[in-house]
Amino acid sequence: MSRIFSGVQPSGNLHLGNYLGAIRNFVGLQDDYECIYCAVNMHAITVWQDPEALRNNTREVAAAYLAAGVDPKRSIIFAQSTVAAHAELAWIFNCVARLGWLNRMTQFKEKAGKNRENASVGLYAYPNLMAADIMVYKATHVPVGEDQKQHLELTRDIAQKFNNDYGTETFPLVEPLIFGAATRVMSLRDGSKKMSKSDPSDYSRITFTDDRDSIAKKLRKARTDADPLPETEEGLKDRPEAANLVGIYAALADLSKQEVLSEFAGAPFSTFKPALTDLAVEKFGPIGEEMKKLMADPAHVDAILKEGAERAAALAAPVLAEVKEVVGFIHP
Ligand code: TRP
Repeated sequence: MSRIFSGVQPSGNLHLGNYLGAIRNFVGLQDDYECIYCAVNMHAITVWQDPEALRNNTREVAAAYLAAGVDPKRSIIFAQSTVAAHAELAWIFNCVARLGWLNRMTQFKEKAGKNRENASVGLYAYPNLMAADIMVYKATHVPVGEDQKQHLELTRDIAQKFNNDYGTETFPLVEPLIFGAATRVMSLRDGSKKMSKSDPSDYSRITFTDDRDSIAKKLRKARTDADPLPETEEGLKDRPEAANLVGIYAALADLSKQEVLSEFAGAPFSTFKPALTDLAVEKFGPIGEEMKKLMADPAHVDAILKEGAERAAALAAPVLAEVKEVVGFIHP
């Protein structure tokens, strides 16, 4: 059976974009793959995280996986920092990846902003750690949002260079799995920006912890234009806010955007937004409820993370041993 690895950063404000772009897709994959799902807390600290908040947010990612329907018996749920093999392989990959490759990473450029000199070295080397996350399990498939495609390309480059430099076939070439209508959920305040945990406006995102009232309020205030919904997808061009809301509806209802437009063609937003609110509350609301229940019992979540770490470490150990042998590290 092929192996899946994916990760979500525990940096707070888990939102609808994380759900539709990633977490939701983790569930169905369990039928066809051996799945490993990680709360990537080592990636999170590439930018400053308050320690207490980080601990809580790490549990929250695990709770979101569970609430969405990841089964901790079939799949592995764990926190990245609890399996040291990730950091060990990341160091080796730091020595395989080239500066020129990392210089091209758009996520680094976005996150570092204008003041690059002040970005952490970890933020720069972030993609190498991500490659290690995946390769330490020789995972073959990674479900991610569109924005992570470039990092997966880099993972393939690192795997290929490693294999090539050492004349081995140690690592497989990973394939991205990208799903559905809303792999890229945009801000409710600005359809040209991704929905983000760090947007200063709470109204830009729907979070896992929003109740019915706040979901309704945020969608009511969501920015739109003045025109009714068009008949075809073509009509959504140059209407980023409308396209985003239609995309969210399509993803939540498991329809194509065209199917949504066929239903709502000609409707004003005053009709569409309440329909979207009902749908979001129906589909997303119960997951938030379940997550809250899980968060009320942190010992339970911690037990699942602990068991997951043990199983993950057992899978990573032989791969890391093989890599060390190839690289020429002596055995203690
Ligand atoms: N970079 C990913 C993100 O920001 C998170 C991540 C870290 C990840 N390691 C991973 C995703 C390995 C998939 C596989 O969304």
